[in-house]
Amino acid sequence: MAAKIIKGIDIREEILSDIRKEVQEIKAEYGLVPGLTTILVGDNPASLSYVTLKVETANSLGFKEVQDSQPTDISEEDLLSLIAKYNNDPTIHGILVQLPLPEHIDEKKVLYAIDPDKDVDGFHPINIGRLMLGGSEVKFPPCTPAGIQEMIIRAGVNTDGAEVVVVGRSNIVGKPIANMLLQKDPHANATVTVVHTHTKDLASHCRRADILIVAAGVPGLVSPEWIKPGACVIDVGVNRVGEKISEKTGKKVAVLRGDVDFEEARKIAGAITPVPGGVGPMTITMLMKNTLNSLKYRLGIMQA
Ligand code: GUN
Repeated sequence: MAAKIIKGIDIREEILSDIRKEVQEIKAEYGLVPGLTTILVGDNPASLSYVTLKVETANSLGFKEVQDSQPTDISEEDLLSLIAKYNNDPTIHGILVQLPLPEHIDEKKVLYAIDPDKDVDGFHPINIGRLMLGGSEVKFPPCTPAGIQEMIIRAGVNTDGAEVVVVGRSNIVGKPIANMLLQKDPHANATVTVVHTHTKDLASHCRRADILIVAAGVPGLVSPEWIKPGACVIDVGVNRVGEKISEKTGKKVAVLRGDVDFEEARKIAGAITPVPGGVGPMTITMLMKNTLNSLKYRLGIMQA
């Protein structure tokens, strides 16, 4: 049987419509809207396109959005001052510094300077610690892993007792999603294995997976024989493998390919995310949710 295609694009619309409604309700009752600052340093085309999408989405929801573009040669000191300014701005509830940063800037220093109560990316060590503790400690789950968990839930895939294999151990995806799915929670409770570049036999681990999450950044890494029949496959890879002219806009756009051979994998998997249109749209959606929640924490109408 052909796999169910888990469409991030459709799930995004459901969640964004709930957020839009809540923003209006909070605005009517408190006269406040969620405020998000996106800081972009330099002109990396991929970063620019991500930030543009974040800005457009925030605006479409009725957020206050401050897009702050800085030159590649901004000093670390100036960037830290900028973050301090937004930390102290009561109309801003979320601060996002788009990664990667230029080499002369210490990424850690920058991420650690963001007020943990405005860290809607969930990258600050305090929020990572809270994520590890789980349950009501979690304030801002990192956006891509939160999107992955939401997709698994909405696809009706049972995680309780499932064998989950995560390919990749990055701070942004692999480590946090592994942690989230092993928590004592009905939407987690999984047995989790994390495999990486030093794992001896990747294929044998992947073949055991009821839920296979691939975030390696290697186009087509997972071949169909690595997939257990009926498994749920989440492909986090967004690899730019070329360029083409968009039929819709007539403009040059990137050709994207996932870490999984989608066309073959869909014949074996029970459920699978496409690239593009799978995990990608969910990351921005969960960023919006974290920003709304940041305002709700501030107002005391939500607790963490
Ligand atoms: N660069 C790639 N992914 C992300 C993300 O989720 N957040 C930020 N801030 N930068 C990124």
